[in-house]
Amino acid sequence: MSCTEGDRKMDLIITGSSDEMSRKAAELFARRIRSNPAIVLGLATGGTPEKMYAELVRLHREEGLDFSRVTTYNLDEYLGIPETHDQSYRYFMNKNLFDHVNILSENTHVLNGMADDPVKECRDYEEAVKKAGGIDLQLLGIGSNGHIAFNEPGSSVQSRTGVVDLTENTIKDNARFFEKAEDVPQQALSMGNGSIMEAKEIILIADKESKADAIFKAVEGPVTEDVPASLLQKHPNCTFIIDSLAAGKLKNRRVL
Ligand code: F6R
Repeated sequence: MSCTEGDRKMDLIITGSSDEMSRKAAELFARRIRSNPAIVLGLATGGTPEKMYAELVRLHREEGLDFSRVTTYNLDEYLGIPETHDQSYRYFMNKNLFDHVNILSENTHVLNGMADDPVKECRDYEEAVKKAGGIDLQLLGIGSNGHIAFNEPGSSVQSRTGVVDLTENTIKDNARFFEKAEDVPQQALSMGNGSIMEAKEIILIADKESKADAIFKAVEGPVTEDVPASLLQKHPNCTFIIDSLAAGKLKNRRVL
C-alpha cells in the first residue's frame, strides 16, 4: 500500500520539550471537553501520557474542567492480569486520571484482561463503543516499532478489537514497568487498527529519541501495515504532537 498523491497527511506540532508536548495535548483535550461536555474519549496508557494526564488533573482542580459527562474507552489491556495489578491499564488510568477528576466510574471503560471469554469481551467492547456513538477524540502513543495500541507491525489495516500477541520488541520496551521481562504478559486485548481509524479525531503524542525512527516512518514513510502508525496518514483529522527529540529524524519539519 502506498500513499497516493493528494492524500491528506497528519498535521504535525513539534514542541521544544516533552513538558510542552504534554501541555499542548492536555490543552487540546480540555478545549474539546469544554466544547462538547458529553464527549467520548479514547485513551492510552504508557509513559508518554502521564504528564498530560497530570495536566488535565490540574485543569480540573484549578480551572474547573468538568468530566461529569465525559465517557472514556481505553485502547488496550494486558491479558491475564487483574485490574488490581499495579501494571494493569485499569490501575494506571485510576491512578493517573480517573481517581482525581469528577468522572463517573461507570463512564470509564477498560477492556477486562481477566474476562472468561476474551474474544466476546472484545466483541462487546466494540459494540459498546458503537452504542456510545463512536470515539470523538482518540489519544494514541506510538511504540518504538511503530505500533499503535497493541497493533504490532503486520496487523491488518482492517483489524478490529481482539486478542493480540505482543512482539519481543514490545515486551522488551515494557519490561521497564515490571520486575523482569518474563513478567510482561505475552498477549493483550486491543482495539484494532480499523477500530481506531473510525475515531472522528486522533491525537498521537510522542517524545524522546527512542521514538524518532518510528515517527519518521509513520510521517514520512509509505503507508504500510508494517508500521501501523503510518496508517494514520489516511485519517482525515489526525495530529501528531511530538517533542523535538522524537522529531529528530524527520526530513521535512514544516507542518504537513
Ligand atoms: C498504551 C498503548 C501503546 C503505547 C505505546 C507507547 O495504551 O496503546 O501503544 O502508547 O506502547 O508506550 P510509551 O508511552 O510507554 O512509550
